[in-house]
Amino acid sequence: MREKIWIIDFGSQYTQLIARRVRELGFSCVIFPLETAVEKLESSSPEAFILSGGPHSIFEDDSDFSELFKNAHIPVLGICYGMQIMGHLFGGKVERGTQGEYGMATIEAQNNFEIPGIESELKVWMSHFDHMSQLPPDFELIYKSKNNLFAGMKHKTLPRLALQFHPEVHHSQKGKEILDYFLRDIAKLEKDWSTQVMIDLCSQEVAGVKGKKVLCAFSGGVDSLVAATLAHNELGDDLYCFFVDNGLLRPQDLHHIELLKRETPLNIEIIDAKKIFFERFQGLSDPELKRKAIGKTFIEVFEQKVHEFEEKKNIKFEYLLQGTIYPDVIESVSPHGKSGKSVTIKSHHNVGGLPERMKLKLLEPLKFLFKDEVRVMGEALGLRHERVYRHPFPGPGIGIRVLGELKEESVVKVQQSDQILFEELNLSGLYEQCWQAFTVLLPVKTVGVKGDARAYEEVICLRIVESVDGMTATWSNFPAEFLSKVSSRITNEVPGVTRVVYDITSKPPGTIEWE
Ligand code: XMP
Repeated sequence: MREKIWIIDFGSQYTQLIARRVRELGFSCVIFPLETAVEKLESSSPEAFILSGGPHSIFEDDSDFSELFKNAHIPVLGICYGMQIMGHLFGGKVERGTQGEYGMATIEAQNNFEIPGIESELKVWMSHFDHMSQLPPDFELIYKSKNNLFAGMKHKTLPRLALQFHPEVHHSQKGKEILDYFLRDIAKLEKDWSTQVMIDLCSQEVAGVKGKKVLCAFSGGVDSLVAATLAHNELGDDLYCFFVDNGLLRPQDLHHIELLKRETPLNIEIIDAKKIFFERFQGLSDPELKRKAIGKTFIEVFEQKVHEFEEKKNIKFEYLLQGTIYPDVIESVSPHGKSGKSVTIKSHHNVGGLPERMKLKLLEPLKFLFKDEVRVMGEALGLRHERVYRHPFPGPGIGIRVLGELKEESVVKVQQSDQILFEELNLSGLYEQCWQAFTVLLPVKTVGVKGDARAYEEVICLRIVESVDGMTATWSNFPAEFLSKVSSRITNEVPGVTRVVYDITSKPPGTIEWE
Protein backbone atom coordinates (compact mmCIF):
# COMPACT_ATOMS: atom_id res chain seq x y z
CA MET A 1 0.00 0.00 0.00
CA ARG A 2 1.16 3.54 -0.54
CA GLU A 3 2.27 5.36 2.59
CA LYS A 4 3.20 8.88 1.50
CA ILE A 5 1.86 10.65 4.59
CA TRP A 6 1.99 9.23 8.09
CA ILE A 7 -0.74 10.40 10.39
CA ILE A 8 0.42 10.06 13.96
CA ASP A 9 -2.48 9.18 16.21
CA PHE A 10 -2.54 10.77 19.64
CA GLY A 11 -6.00 9.43 20.42
CA SER A 12 -8.20 12.03 18.72
CA GLN A 13 -11.69 10.94 17.80
CA TYR A 14 -11.00 12.59 14.43
CA THR A 15 -7.81 10.74 13.42
CA GLN A 16 -9.54 8.56 10.83
CA LEU A 17 -11.32 11.61 9.52
CA ILE A 18 -7.96 13.30 8.84
CA ALA A 19 -6.91 10.24 6.84
CA ARG A 20 -10.13 10.21 4.83
CA ARG A 21 -9.84 13.92 4.00
CA VAL A 22 -6.19 13.52 2.95
CA ARG A 23 -7.13 10.66 0.63
CA GLU A 24 -10.12 12.59 -0.73
CA LEU A 25 -7.62 15.29 -1.64
CA GLY A 26 -5.68 12.69 -3.63
CA PHE A 27 -2.77 11.79 -1.32
CA SER A 28 -2.04 8.36 0.17
CA CYS A 29 -1.71 8.08 3.93
CA VAL A 30 -1.61 5.62 6.81
CA ILE A 31 -2.23 5.95 10.54
CA PHE A 32 0.32 4.93 13.16
CA PRO A 33 0.63 5.42 16.89
CA LEU A 34 3.81 7.34 17.82
CA GLU A 35 5.72 4.23 18.94
CA THR A 36 5.07 2.35 15.69
CA ALA A 37 6.00 5.38 13.61
CA VAL A 38 9.29 5.78 15.46
CA GLU A 39 10.10 2.07 14.92
CA LYS A 40 9.23 2.28 11.23
CA LEU A 41 11.37 5.37 10.77
CA GLU A 42 14.41 3.12 11.11
CA SER A 43 13.66 1.47 7.79
CA SER A 44 11.40 3.86 5.88
CA SER A 45 10.39 7.45 5.82
CA PRO A 46 7.23 9.36 4.93
CA GLU A 47 6.99 12.44 2.74
CA ALA A 48 5.07 14.27 5.48
CA PHE A 49 3.71 13.81 8.99
CA ILE A 50 0.37 14.97 10.32
CA LEU A 51 0.08 14.95 14.10
CA SER A 52 -3.50 14.36 15.21
CA GLY A 53 -5.23 15.98 18.13
CA GLY A 54 -5.71 14.06 21.33
CA PRO A 55 -7.11 14.25 24.83
CA HIS A 56 -3.74 14.51 26.58
CA SER A 57 -2.01 17.45 28.15
CA ILE A 58 1.59 18.19 27.26
CA PHE A 59 2.20 18.57 31.02
CA GLU A 60 1.41 14.91 31.62
CA ASP A 61 2.75 13.38 28.42
CA ASP A 62 6.39 12.30 28.66
CA SER A 63 6.58 10.80 25.13
CA ASP A 64 9.62 11.63 23.04
CA PHE A 65 8.34 13.46 19.97
CA SER A 66 11.74 14.57 18.73
CA GLU A 67 12.20 11.65 16.27
CA LEU A 68 9.37 13.10 14.17
CA PHE A 69 11.32 16.31 13.67
CA LYS A 70 14.81 14.81 13.30
CA ASN A 71 14.81 15.23 9.54
CA ALA A 72 13.91 18.92 9.30
CA HIS A 73 12.96 18.56 5.64
CA ILE A 74 10.03 16.24 6.30
CA PRO A 75 7.00 18.55 6.43
CA VAL A 76 4.86 18.40 9.57
CA LEU A 77 1.32 19.57 10.19
CA GLY A 78 0.26 19.64 13.85
CA ILE A 79 -3.46 19.67 14.57
CA CYS A 80 -4.79 20.70 18.00
CA TYR A 81 -2.69 18.63 20.44
CA GLY A 82 -0.24 18.30 17.54
CA MET A 83 0.20 22.10 17.58
CA GLN A 84 0.92 22.04 21.30
CA ILE A 85 3.49 19.26 20.83
CA MET A 86 5.23 21.32 18.16
CA GLY A 87 5.08 24.54 20.18
CA HIS A 88 6.32 22.91 23.38
CA LEU A 89 9.14 20.99 21.68
CA PHE A 90 10.57 24.07 19.97
CA GLY A 91 10.56 26.37 22.99
CA GLY A 92 7.14 28.01 22.85
CA LYS A 93 4.88 28.20 25.86
CA VAL A 94 1.79 26.06 26.40
CA GLU A 95 -0.51 27.02 29.25
CA ARG A 96 -2.98 24.92 31.11
CA GLY A 97 -6.45 25.97 30.12
CA THR A 98 -8.89 27.40 32.58
CA GLN A 99 -12.03 27.04 30.52
CA GLY A 100 -10.97 25.64 27.14
CA GLU A 101 -12.54 26.31 23.76
CA TYR A 102 -15.09 23.78 22.53
CA GLY A 103 -17.33 24.01 19.49
CA MET A 104 -17.38 26.69 16.82
CA ALA A 105 -14.99 29.63 17.06
CA THR A 106 -14.14 32.48 14.73
CA ILE A 107 -10.51 32.88 13.73
CA GLU A 108 -8.78 35.73 11.92
CA ALA A 109 -5.65 35.62 9.77
CA GLN A 110 -2.66 37.46 11.27
CA ASN A 111 0.50 39.09 9.93
CA ASN A 112 -0.88 39.35 6.39
CA PHE A 113 -1.10 35.57 6.16
CA GLU A 114 -3.20 34.60 3.18
CA ILE A 115 -4.11 31.37 1.45
CA PRO A 116 -5.37 32.18 -2.06
CA GLY A 117 -9.13 31.76 -2.24
CA ILE A 118 -9.61 31.51 1.51
CA GLU A 119 -11.21 34.34 3.50
CA SER A 120 -9.21 35.87 6.34
CA GLU A 121 -12.03 35.28 8.82
CA LEU A 122 -13.32 31.70 9.25
CA LYS A 123 -15.61 29.75 11.54
CA VAL A 124 -13.84 26.60 12.67
CA TRP A 125 -14.26 23.66 15.06
CA MET A 126 -12.22 23.87 18.27
CA SER A 127 -11.85 21.28 20.98
CA HIS A 128 -8.98 22.00 23.36
CA PHE A 129 -8.28 22.82 26.97
CA ASP A 130 -4.59 23.83 27.05
CA HIS A 131 -3.42 26.50 24.62
CA MET A 132 -0.23 28.13 23.39
CA SER A 133 0.56 31.50 24.84
CA GLN A 134 3.99 32.14 23.36
CA LEU A 135 5.29 31.09 19.96
CA PRO A 136 8.57 29.21 19.60
CA PRO A 137 11.40 31.12 17.90
CA ASP A 138 11.22 31.17 14.10
CA PHE A 139 7.46 30.62 14.03
CA GLU A 140 4.94 33.28 13.10
CA LEU A 141 1.34 33.57 14.13
CA ILE A 142 -1.04 32.98 11.22
CA TYR A 143 -4.44 32.69 12.96
CA LYS A 144 -5.85 34.01 16.20
CA SER A 145 -9.31 33.23 17.57
CA LYS A 146 -11.77 35.97 18.55
CA ASN A 147 -11.22 34.75 22.13
CA ASN A 148 -7.69 36.03 21.65
CA LEU A 149 -6.07 32.57 21.64
CA PHE A 150 -3.41 31.42 19.19
CA ALA A 151 -5.14 29.38 16.49
CA GLY A 152 -2.36 28.71 13.97
CA MET A 153 1.38 29.14 13.42
CA LYS A 154 3.87 28.52 10.66
CA HIS A 155 7.63 28.12 10.64
CA LYS A 156 9.40 30.94 8.82
CA THR A 157 11.68 28.70 6.76
CA LEU A 158 10.93 25.01 7.42
CA PRO A 159 7.81 23.18 6.13
CA ARG A 160 5.96 23.18 9.46
CA LEU A 161 2.41 24.31 10.05
CA ALA A 162 0.26 24.00 13.16
CA LEU A 163 -3.44 24.60 13.71
CA GLN A 164 -5.25 24.70 17.01
CA PHE A 165 -8.57 23.97 15.27
CA HIS A 166 -9.70 20.85 13.38
CA PRO A 167 -9.61 21.41 9.60
CA GLU A 168 -10.70 17.77 9.06
CA VAL A 169 -14.12 18.30 10.66
CA HIS A 170 -16.67 19.33 8.08
CA HIS A 171 -18.06 22.18 10.21
CA SER A 172 -14.71 23.97 9.85
CA GLN A 173 -15.08 26.46 6.98
CA LYS A 174 -12.50 25.82 4.25
CA GLY A 175 -10.95 23.06 6.39
CA LYS A 176 -10.31 20.84 3.40
CA GLU A 177 -8.73 23.72 1.48
CA ILE A 178 -6.44 24.43 4.43
CA LEU A 179 -5.34 20.77 4.47
CA ASP A 180 -4.78 21.00 0.74
CA TYR A 181 -2.68 24.13 1.30
CA PHE A 182 -0.43 22.17 3.66
CA LEU A 183 -0.11 19.18 1.32
CA ARG A 184 0.50 21.13 -1.88
CA ASP A 185 2.01 24.49 -0.94
CA ILE A 186 3.97 23.64 2.19
CA ALA A 187 4.80 19.96 1.76
CA LYS A 188 4.90 20.23 -2.05
CA LEU A 189 3.55 16.70 -2.50
CA GLU A 190 2.37 15.11 -5.72
CA LYS A 191 -1.01 13.41 -5.74
CA ASP A 192 -0.86 9.62 -5.69
CA TRP A 193 -4.32 8.42 -4.62
CA SER A 194 -7.49 7.89 -6.66
CA THR A 195 -10.18 5.30 -7.21
CA GLN A 196 -8.14 3.78 -10.03
CA VAL A 197 -5.06 3.57 -7.80
CA MET A 198 -7.14 1.77 -5.14
CA ILE A 199 -8.49 -0.67 -7.71
CA ASP A 200 -5.00 -1.35 -9.09
CA LEU A 201 -3.43 -1.91 -5.66
CA CYS A 202 -6.24 -4.17 -4.41
CA SER A 203 -6.30 -6.10 -7.71
CA GLN A 204 -2.54 -6.68 -7.51
CA GLU A 205 -3.02 -8.24 -4.09
CA VAL A 206 -5.63 -10.64 -5.46
CA ALA A 207 -3.64 -11.34 -8.62
CA GLY A 208 -0.94 -12.81 -6.38
CA VAL A 209 -3.12 -15.90 -5.81
CA LYS A 210 -4.20 -16.43 -9.41
CA GLY A 211 -4.79 -20.08 -10.22
CA LYS A 212 -5.65 -20.99 -6.59
CA LYS A 213 -9.14 -21.84 -5.38
CA VAL A 214 -10.50 -19.05 -3.20
CA LEU A 215 -13.42 -19.26 -0.83
CA CYS A 216 -15.48 -16.31 0.34
CA ALA A 217 -17.77 -16.33 3.39
CA PHE A 218 -20.18 -14.07 1.58
CA SER A 219 -22.64 -11.97 3.57
CA GLY A 220 -23.82 -9.72 0.75
CA GLY A 221 -22.72 -6.73 2.86
CA VAL A 222 -20.84 -3.91 1.16
CA ASP A 223 -17.35 -5.08 2.11
CA SER A 224 -17.68 -8.74 1.15
CA LEU A 225 -19.53 -7.81 -2.05
CA VAL A 226 -16.86 -5.35 -3.20
CA ALA A 227 -14.03 -7.73 -2.19
CA ALA A 228 -15.69 -10.57 -4.11
CA THR A 229 -16.34 -8.42 -7.20
CA LEU A 230 -12.75 -7.26 -7.27
CA ALA A 231 -11.47 -10.80 -6.72
CA HIS A 232 -13.75 -12.23 -9.39
CA ASN A 233 -12.27 -9.83 -11.95
CA GLU A 234 -8.86 -11.39 -11.30
CA LEU A 235 -9.73 -14.99 -10.46
CA GLY A 236 -12.91 -15.66 -12.41
CA ASP A 237 -14.62 -18.88 -11.44
CA ASP A 238 -11.84 -19.91 -9.06
CA LEU A 239 -13.69 -17.73 -6.54
CA TYR A 240 -16.62 -19.39 -4.78
CA CYS A 241 -18.97 -17.38 -2.55
CA PHE A 242 -20.89 -19.26 0.14
CA PHE A 243 -23.83 -17.54 1.76
CA VAL A 244 -25.34 -19.10 4.89
CA ASP A 245 -29.06 -18.59 5.48
CA ASN A 246 -29.27 -18.93 9.27
CA GLY A 247 -32.98 -18.13 9.45
CA LEU A 248 -32.14 -14.84 11.17
CA LEU A 249 -32.25 -12.72 8.04
CA ARG A 250 -34.76 -10.08 7.06
CA PRO A 251 -36.74 -10.50 3.83
CA GLN A 252 -34.62 -7.74 2.23
CA ASP A 253 -31.41 -9.70 2.89
CA LEU A 254 -32.42 -12.83 1.02
CA HIS A 255 -33.89 -10.74 -1.76
CA HIS A 256 -30.59 -8.88 -2.00
CA ILE A 257 -28.65 -12.15 -2.44
CA GLU A 258 -31.07 -13.32 -5.12
CA LEU A 259 -30.60 -10.02 -6.97
CA LEU A 260 -26.82 -10.33 -6.75
CA LYS A 261 -27.00 -13.85 -8.15
CA ARG A 262 -28.84 -12.44 -11.14
CA GLU A 263 -26.95 -9.17 -11.58
CA THR A 264 -23.33 -10.19 -11.03
CA PRO A 265 -21.12 -12.94 -12.44
CA LEU A 266 -20.36 -14.13 -8.89
CA ASN A 267 -20.59 -17.79 -8.17
CA ILE A 268 -22.89 -17.69 -5.11
CA GLU A 269 -23.92 -20.88 -3.27
CA ILE A 270 -26.76 -20.44 -0.77
CA ILE A 271 -26.59 -22.83 2.18
CA ASP A 272 -30.00 -23.27 3.77
CA ALA A 273 -29.19 -23.90 7.44
CA LYS A 274 -32.31 -22.49 9.09
CA LYS A 275 -33.25 -25.78 10.73
CA ILE A 276 -29.95 -26.46 12.45
CA PHE A 277 -29.66 -22.86 13.67
CA PHE A 278 -33.13 -23.03 15.26
CA GLU A 279 -32.23 -26.29 16.99
CA ARG A 280 -29.01 -24.78 18.36
CA PHE A 281 -30.44 -21.70 20.01
CA GLN A 282 -33.55 -23.36 21.46
CA GLY A 283 -33.99 -22.16 25.04
CA LEU A 284 -31.11 -19.65 24.97
CA SER A 285 -31.85 -16.11 26.11
CA ASP A 286 -28.54 -14.71 27.37
CA PRO A 287 -27.10 -12.39 24.66
CA GLU A 288 -23.57 -13.79 24.93
CA LEU A 289 -24.75 -17.41 24.78
CA LYS A 290 -26.92 -16.63 21.76
CA ARG A 291 -24.05 -14.90 19.95
CA LYS A 292 -21.70 -17.78 20.73
CA ALA A 293 -24.22 -20.41 19.58
CA ILE A 294 -24.86 -18.52 16.34
CA GLY A 295 -21.14 -17.99 15.66
CA LYS A 296 -20.22 -21.60 16.46
CA THR A 297 -23.05 -23.02 14.35
CA PHE A 298 -22.03 -20.78 11.47
CA ILE A 299 -18.49 -22.12 11.51
CA GLU A 300 -19.63 -25.76 11.74
CA VAL A 301 -22.19 -25.47 8.96
CA PHE A 302 -19.83 -23.53 6.75
CA GLU A 303 -16.97 -25.97 7.22
CA GLN A 304 -19.11 -29.02 6.60
CA LYS A 305 -20.78 -27.64 3.47
CA VAL A 306 -17.49 -26.45 2.03
CA HIS A 307 -15.89 -29.88 2.58
CA GLU A 308 -18.85 -31.59 0.90
CA PHE A 309 -18.50 -29.17 -1.99
CA GLU A 310 -14.75 -29.77 -2.25
CA GLU A 311 -15.31 -33.54 -2.42
CA LYS A 312 -18.08 -33.28 -4.97
CA LYS A 313 -16.10 -30.96 -7.25
CA ASN A 314 -12.73 -32.49 -6.46
CA ILE A 315 -11.13 -29.17 -5.59
CA LYS A 316 -9.22 -27.79 -2.60
CA PHE A 317 -9.59 -24.25 -1.31
CA GLU A 318 -6.39 -22.52 -0.26
CA TYR A 319 -7.51 -18.98 0.52
CA LEU A 320 -10.35 -17.33 2.42
CA LEU A 321 -11.33 -13.94 1.01
CA GLN A 322 -12.55 -11.47 3.62
CA GLY A 323 -13.87 -7.93 3.34
CA THR A 324 -11.76 -6.62 6.23
CA ILE A 325 -11.41 -2.83 5.98
CA TYR A 326 -8.94 -0.33 7.47
CA PRO A 327 -10.91 0.60 10.62
CA ASP A 328 -10.94 -3.14 11.53
CA VAL A 329 -7.15 -3.30 11.63
CA ILE A 330 -5.87 0.16 12.58
CA GLU A 331 -3.71 0.03 15.64
CA SER A 332 -5.70 2.63 17.49
CA VAL A 333 -4.66 4.69 20.48
CA SER A 334 -7.14 4.70 23.30
CA PRO A 335 -8.68 8.15 23.78
CA HIS A 336 -9.05 7.30 27.47
CA GLY A 337 -5.44 7.66 28.46
CA LYS A 338 -2.06 6.28 27.57
CA SER A 339 -3.03 2.71 28.25
CA GLY A 340 -1.40 1.63 25.03
CA LYS A 341 -2.61 0.27 21.75
CA SER A 342 -5.61 -1.79 20.95
CA VAL A 343 -6.53 -3.46 17.72
CA THR A 344 -10.13 -2.88 16.80
CA ILE A 345 -11.74 -6.10 15.65
CA LYS A 346 -15.42 -5.65 15.09
CA SER A 347 -17.31 -6.78 12.08
CA HIS A 348 -15.49 -10.04 11.42
CA HIS A 349 -15.49 -11.61 14.82
CA ASN A 350 -18.39 -13.82 13.65
CA VAL A 351 -16.04 -15.92 11.59
CA GLY A 352 -13.09 -15.65 13.95
CA GLY A 353 -11.11 -18.88 13.96
CA LEU A 354 -12.42 -20.03 10.59
CA PRO A 355 -9.17 -19.62 8.60
CA GLU A 356 -7.06 -21.50 11.19
CA ARG A 357 -9.62 -24.27 11.55
CA MET A 358 -9.99 -24.80 7.83
CA LYS A 359 -6.26 -24.26 7.24
CA LEU A 360 -6.91 -21.40 4.85
CA LYS A 361 -4.66 -18.46 4.16
CA LEU A 362 -6.30 -15.04 4.41
CA LEU A 363 -6.85 -12.75 1.47
CA GLU A 364 -7.93 -9.27 2.58
CA PRO A 365 -7.55 -6.91 -0.40
CA LEU A 366 -9.54 -4.05 1.16
CA LYS A 367 -7.70 -3.90 4.42
CA PHE A 368 -6.24 -0.45 3.79
CA LEU A 369 -9.47 1.18 2.65
CA PHE A 370 -12.13 3.13 4.47
CA LYS A 371 -15.79 2.23 4.04
CA ASP A 372 -16.50 5.28 1.87
CA GLU A 373 -13.58 4.30 -0.39
CA VAL A 374 -14.90 0.73 -0.64
CA ARG A 375 -18.27 2.12 -1.74
CA VAL A 376 -16.77 4.39 -4.38
CA MET A 377 -14.62 1.53 -5.62
CA GLY A 378 -17.65 -0.79 -5.74
CA GLU A 379 -19.49 1.60 -8.01
CA ALA A 380 -16.39 2.05 -10.17
CA LEU A 381 -16.31 -1.76 -10.52
CA GLY A 382 -19.83 -1.61 -11.93
CA LEU A 383 -21.94 -2.47 -8.88
CA ARG A 384 -25.26 -0.67 -8.61
CA HIS A 385 -25.41 2.29 -6.24
CA GLU A 386 -28.05 0.73 -3.95
CA ARG A 387 -26.01 -2.47 -3.58
CA VAL A 388 -23.01 -0.62 -2.13
CA TYR A 389 -24.96 1.86 -0.02
CA ARG A 390 -26.78 -0.81 2.00
CA HIS A 391 -26.87 -0.51 5.76
CA PRO A 392 -24.58 -2.84 7.70
CA PHE A 393 -26.27 -5.98 9.00
CA PRO A 394 -24.61 -7.91 11.84
CA GLY A 395 -23.62 -11.57 11.41
CA PRO A 396 -25.97 -12.79 14.20
CA GLY A 397 -28.77 -10.88 12.45
CA ILE A 398 -32.19 -10.87 14.04
CA GLY A 399 -30.76 -13.18 16.71
CA ILE A 400 -29.54 -10.08 18.59
CA ARG A 401 -32.71 -8.12 17.80
CA VAL A 402 -35.14 -10.45 19.54
CA LEU A 403 -34.28 -9.70 23.14
CA GLY A 404 -34.30 -12.74 25.35
CA GLU A 405 -35.32 -16.16 24.11
CA LEU A 406 -35.19 -16.69 20.36
CA LYS A 407 -38.47 -18.20 19.23
CA GLU A 408 -39.50 -18.64 15.64
CA GLU A 409 -42.62 -16.49 16.04
CA SER A 410 -40.54 -13.67 17.59
CA VAL A 411 -38.13 -13.74 14.66
CA VAL A 412 -41.13 -13.44 12.31
CA LYS A 413 -42.35 -10.31 14.17
CA VAL A 414 -38.99 -8.63 13.64
CA GLN A 415 -38.89 -9.73 10.00
CA GLN A 416 -42.31 -8.24 9.36
CA SER A 417 -41.73 -4.99 11.24
CA ASP A 418 -38.31 -4.54 9.71
CA GLN A 419 -39.74 -4.99 6.23
CA ILE A 420 -42.26 -2.20 6.94
CA LEU A 421 -39.53 0.12 8.21
CA PHE A 422 -37.40 -0.68 5.14
CA GLU A 423 -40.27 0.02 2.73
CA GLU A 424 -41.12 3.32 4.39
CA LEU A 425 -37.49 4.46 4.48
CA ASN A 426 -37.24 3.85 0.76
CA LEU A 427 -40.56 5.53 0.00
CA SER A 428 -39.60 8.65 1.94
CA GLY A 429 -36.05 8.80 0.56
CA LEU A 430 -34.62 8.49 4.07
CA TYR A 431 -32.75 5.18 3.67
CA GLU A 432 -29.43 6.80 2.83
CA GLN A 433 -29.92 9.53 5.43
CA CYS A 434 -29.03 7.08 8.19
CA TRP A 435 -26.25 4.61 8.92
CA GLN A 436 -28.53 1.85 10.13
CA ALA A 437 -32.25 1.41 10.77
CA PHE A 438 -33.87 -1.68 12.23
CA THR A 439 -36.48 -2.98 14.61
CA VAL A 440 -36.03 -4.79 17.90
CA LEU A 441 -38.59 -6.95 19.72
CA LEU A 442 -38.61 -6.08 23.42
CA PRO A 443 -39.18 -8.78 26.02
CA VAL A 444 -42.19 -7.05 27.60
CA LYS A 445 -45.92 -7.08 27.07
CA THR A 446 -48.06 -4.01 27.35
CA VAL A 447 -51.77 -3.32 27.42
CA GLY A 448 -53.46 -1.90 24.35
CA VAL A 449 -56.80 -1.73 22.57
CA LYS A 450 -57.28 -3.46 19.25
CA GLY A 451 -60.71 -3.05 17.70
CA ASP A 452 -62.93 -2.92 20.75
CA ALA A 453 -61.02 -5.46 22.73
CA ARG A 454 -58.27 -5.22 25.29
CA ALA A 455 -54.94 -6.47 23.95
CA TYR A 456 -51.92 -7.56 25.96
CA GLU A 457 -49.18 -7.75 23.38
CA GLU A 458 -45.56 -7.07 22.54
CA VAL A 459 -43.49 -3.94 21.85
CA ILE A 460 -41.33 -3.15 18.81
CA CYS A 461 -38.59 -0.58 19.18
CA LEU A 462 -37.33 1.40 16.17
CA ARG A 463 -33.58 2.01 16.19
CA ILE A 464 -32.35 4.52 13.58
CA VAL A 465 -28.88 6.01 13.90
CA GLU A 466 -26.39 8.21 12.14
CA SER A 467 -22.77 7.21 12.28
CA VAL A 468 -19.55 7.20 10.27
CA ASP A 469 -18.03 3.91 11.30
CA GLY A 470 -20.34 2.41 13.91
CA MET A 471 -17.93 3.31 16.72
CA THR A 472 -20.02 6.28 17.83
CA ALA A 473 -23.55 7.13 16.75
CA THR A 474 -26.38 9.57 17.29
CA TRP A 475 -30.06 8.72 16.99
CA SER A 476 -31.67 10.10 13.84
CA ASN A 477 -34.10 12.93 14.36
CA PHE A 478 -36.43 11.75 11.59
CA PRO A 479 -39.74 13.53 10.87
CA ALA A 480 -42.63 12.72 13.19
CA GLU A 481 -44.89 11.95 10.20
CA PHE A 482 -42.48 9.27 9.05
CA LEU A 483 -42.23 7.68 12.51
CA SER A 484 -45.97 7.86 12.92
CA LYS A 485 -46.58 6.12 9.59
CA VAL A 486 -44.15 3.31 10.47
CA SER A 487 -45.71 2.93 13.90
CA SER A 488 -49.26 2.70 12.63
CA ARG A 489 -48.31 0.22 9.90
CA ILE A 490 -46.49 -2.02 12.39
CA THR A 491 -49.33 -2.06 14.94
CA ASN A 492 -51.86 -2.70 12.15
CA GLU A 493 -49.94 -5.24 10.11
CA VAL A 494 -47.79 -7.22 12.55
CA PRO A 495 -49.89 -9.64 14.60
CA GLY A 496 -49.07 -9.59 18.31
CA VAL A 497 -47.61 -6.07 18.43
CA THR A 498 -49.57 -3.23 20.04
CA ARG A 499 -46.92 -0.67 20.77
CA VAL A 500 -43.98 0.95 18.94
CA VAL A 501 -41.31 3.01 20.68
CA TYR A 502 -38.40 5.05 19.32
CA ASP A 503 -34.91 4.70 20.79
CA ILE A 504 -33.32 8.13 21.38
CA THR A 505 -30.03 6.92 22.84
CA SER A 506 -26.67 7.86 21.32
CA LYS A 507 -23.54 5.71 21.38
CA PRO A 508 -21.96 6.08 23.84
CA PRO A 509 -23.51 5.31 26.25
CA GLY A 510 -25.85 2.95 24.35
CA THR A 511 -24.54 0.60 21.68
CA ILE A 512 -26.23 0.51 18.29
CA GLU A 513 -27.55 -3.03 18.73
CA TRP A 514 -29.54 -3.81 21.85
CA GLU A 515 -27.67 -7.02 22.60
P1 XMP B 1 -22.68 -1.92 18.42
O1 XMP B 1 -23.94 -2.63 18.82
O2 XMP B 1 -21.45 -2.55 19.01
O3 XMP B 1 -22.56 -2.10 16.86
O4 XMP B 1 -22.75 -0.44 18.69
C1 XMP B 1 -21.66 -1.38 16.05
C2 XMP B 1 -21.83 -1.89 14.62
O5 XMP B 1 -21.41 -3.27 14.55
C3 XMP B 1 -22.48 -4.09 14.15
N1 XMP B 1 -22.40 -5.31 14.95
C4 XMP B 1 -21.97 -6.48 14.46
N2 XMP B 1 -21.56 -6.83 13.22
N3 XMP B 1 -21.26 -9.03 13.98
C5 XMP B 1 -21.24 -8.11 12.99
O6 XMP B 1 -20.91 -8.46 11.85
C6 XMP B 1 -21.64 -8.78 15.24
O7 XMP B 1 -21.66 -9.64 16.11
C7 XMP B 1 -22.01 -7.41 15.49
N4 XMP B 1 -22.45 -6.76 16.60
C8 XMP B 1 -22.68 -5.48 16.23
C9 XMP B 1 -23.75 -3.29 14.42
O8 XMP B 1 -24.84 -3.70 13.61
C10 XMP B 1 -23.27 -1.88 14.14
O9 XMP B 1 -23.26 -1.61 12.75
